[in-house]
Amino acid sequence: MLDALTEIETSGLAELGATSDADALEAWRIAYLGTKGRLRAVMPMMKDVPKDQKGAVGKRLNEVKSKLESAFEAKQSGSAGKGPDGPAIDMTEPGVIDTHAVGRRHILSRVREELVEVFARMGFGVAQGPELEDDEHNFVKLNIPADHPARDPIDNFYVDDPATTAVPRMLRSQTSTVQIRTLEDAVAKGWGPPVKVVSPGRVYRPDTVDATHSFMFHQIEGLHIDRGVSMADLKTTLFQFARAYFGDDAEVRLRPSFFPFTEPSAEFDMKIALRPGDEPAWIELGGCGMVDPNVLKACGLDPDEWSGFAFGFGIERLAMGKYAIPDIRMLFENDVRFLTQV
Ligand code: DAH
Repeated sequence: MLDALTEIETSGLAELGATSDADALEAWRIAYLGTKGRLRAVMPMMKDVPKDQKGAVGKRLNEVKSKLESAFEAKQSGSAGKGPDGPAIDMTEPGVIDTHAVGRRHILSRVREELVEVFARMGFGVAQGPELEDDEHNFVKLNIPADHPARDPIDNFYVDDPATTAVPRMLRSQTSTVQIRTLEDAVAKGWGPPVKVVSPGRVYRPDTVDATHSFMFHQIEGLHIDRGVSMADLKTTLFQFARAYFGDDAEVRLRPSFFPFTEPSAEFDMKIALRPGDEPAWIELGGCGMVDPNVLKACGLDPDEWSGFAFGFGIERLAMGKYAIPDIRMLFENDVRFLTQV
């Protein structure tokens, strides 16, 4: 009988170890510990055990029984909650990744919208123009002559060869193209002037990418044409814009400059610290000026009757200035750790 008990103990523990799911575990329990199980089956052998050994054999029987029972319980509690195939999912466990995080629009999209909104409060509508342009709208009608350095093929993304094409297509290098498109449309369809619009959009230049340059960036163009519009209107508009967008203490200045499509021309600067702790420094936000009579004429308007101002700002510059972003590349890398901060 002792041999039989040892065999039950050895094979019982081995088979228990091999069970892999709740069904197999229950089958094992029935086979070994059940009322018709193997342990019960050896009990009748007790009566054949010599009297002087009954005590020891009985002790051994209890020992095997409790060993198997406790091994069974340990196995059962260890596998508690496990389904037939592997670990169970605890539906009450908090998630590791916050799948309910609310997304947000890209900082550049939000800044563009804010800018349009500020100018809308000053009476500017929104005009659009194509990104695939031609040099007629990008240069010629903007009073930029054929020998002007800005037209160098090295500095532009031409789609057609400018040496052999009459009106070569190109990716626009500035949103000033929309001034021409809007005035042409106003004249052709008779809805203006007055014209008072801003035009945000992408522009392209083959610049080497660094902390302040990108081959694609955004500008917002402004154009206001009416009778008797003056430089004072331009200055008022830009200074009001700066205060509305950057706050009442915004420090801005106009600095004399030159652009072929404006006369007089100026650069619009603002004093900003791009890194926390830096001394604020003047950075150029864009150019502006009174629309050159040649531009008005190219669009079919009489410069003796109409006048106006125009401006063009870099949207990235405005965003970097407002949110103290030190490197333009951060705006295009789409690193979520950056995007969730701005
Ligand atoms: N188009 C100019 C540029 O990209 C910016 C600019 C300057 C726009 C003067 C204007 C303007 O409308 O009047 O550098």
